[in-house]
Amino acid sequence: MQIIDAAKLISYLRNAHRGDLVDPEDVRRAITPQTLLISIMHANNEVGTIQPIAEIAAIARQHGIRFHTDAAQSVGKIPTKVDELVSIC
Ligand SMILES: Cc1ncc(COP(=O)(O)O)c(C=O)c1O
Repeated sequence: MQIIDAAKLISYLRNAHRGDLVDPEDVRRAITPQTLLISIMHANNEVGTIQPIAEIAAIARQHGIRFHTDAAQSVGKIPTKVDELVSIC
């Protein structure tokens, strides 16, 4: 059995921990040929950030990378319809 150290395979954008908005261009710069998934929280109920997921999803799409967002704090409070978010890109 091969043990994989997942921490070595994940790139974190540190500003997301400080309550700042993630710059989609930072996401683009973090992409490598090995990137399989981009994941970001949509709304953070503790610090009040609403991340630019439509722009980040567009970058993921351009690179053929799967995109995931945790919208647990945004559904029912702010627009979260995928078709509408995608159409603004
Ligand atoms: C965006 C988001 N995702 C997930 C969770 C985790 O929720 P739970 O622990 O109820 O599964 C929280 C909790 O606040 C959250 O804000």
